[in-house]
Amino acid sequence: MPDVNAPIGVFDSGVGGLTVAKEIMRQLPGESLVYFGDTARVPYGSKSGQTVCKYSRQIVNFLLTKQVKAIVIACNTASALAREELEEMVNIPVVDVVRPGAKMAADDTKNNNIGIIGTESTVKSGIYEQFLHQINPEITVVSKACPLFVPLVEEGLLEDRVTEDIVSRYLHDMKEYRIDTLVLGCTHYPLLRGVIGREMGEDVRLINPAYETAKSLKELLKKENLLASGRAGRTHAYYVSDGVERFVAFADSVLPCRVGNAQVVDIEAY
Ligand code: DGL
Repeated sequence: MPDVNAPIGVFDSGVGGLTVAKEIMRQLPGESLVYFGDTARVPYGSKSGQTVCKYSRQIVNFLLTKQVKAIVIACNTASALAREELEEMVNIPVVDVVRPGAKMAADDTKNNNIGIIGTESTVKSGIYEQFLHQINPEITVVSKACPLFVPLVEEGLLEDRVTEDIVSRYLHDMKEYRIDTLVLGCTHYPLLRGVIGREMGEDVRLINPAYETAKSLKELLKKENLLASGRAGRTHAYYVSDGVERFVAFADSVLPCRVGNAQVVDIEAY
């Protein structure tokens, strides 16, 4: 049985998973986190399933050295391509971002027309359609890969004319499908929420799976008697595979607490 005051491991290909970490910090203020961002190998969304599985296994091996009590795959691409393998690999709870995102969208839609945006690999995997149709076979899904969104976020171009142009180019056609709900199916995308929201208009509700992911994590930890007792006092630690300064500056602008420092890990060694 893991130590209840052990940290929760959270990972992503880069800074996108910070949107999930932020929500976990909000909903589970007593928990400590170990965040890993694979900043040297981002993006994952254009890589093969085999490569994403290998990267994800290495990261989980690294997180296990930090004695984490649970793992949150704060990346839709890794959730879509590597979740099953990671679940088999460890004997601690694993939470992904896709199921919670699909549930939120299915609960929210009024006209059963849902849009999904994500990386090429996530969209190609069809995983959101699969979960949405399991919940309600009547739902119509329209998906679109937006491969330039991740580099825009990693470059910090969250509100920029270039971003507005690219968002409009990707999403303009989606408006014809009369969707009332759009899933931000990549953890980087909530950082572009302002621009995406303006493009889609106020009748389209944007779904950030982070909220439901943190909720599922809380329920799972409770069920497994793994919620932190609160005695130890929480501490967060941050690791990346490259570019510490950039990461820290970005994380400081996203998270509610001061990040201060991160360490570089030779992730290929895991
Ligand atoms: N943030 C990740 C996701 O949710 C990965 C983006 C990428 O590395 O391409 O899919």
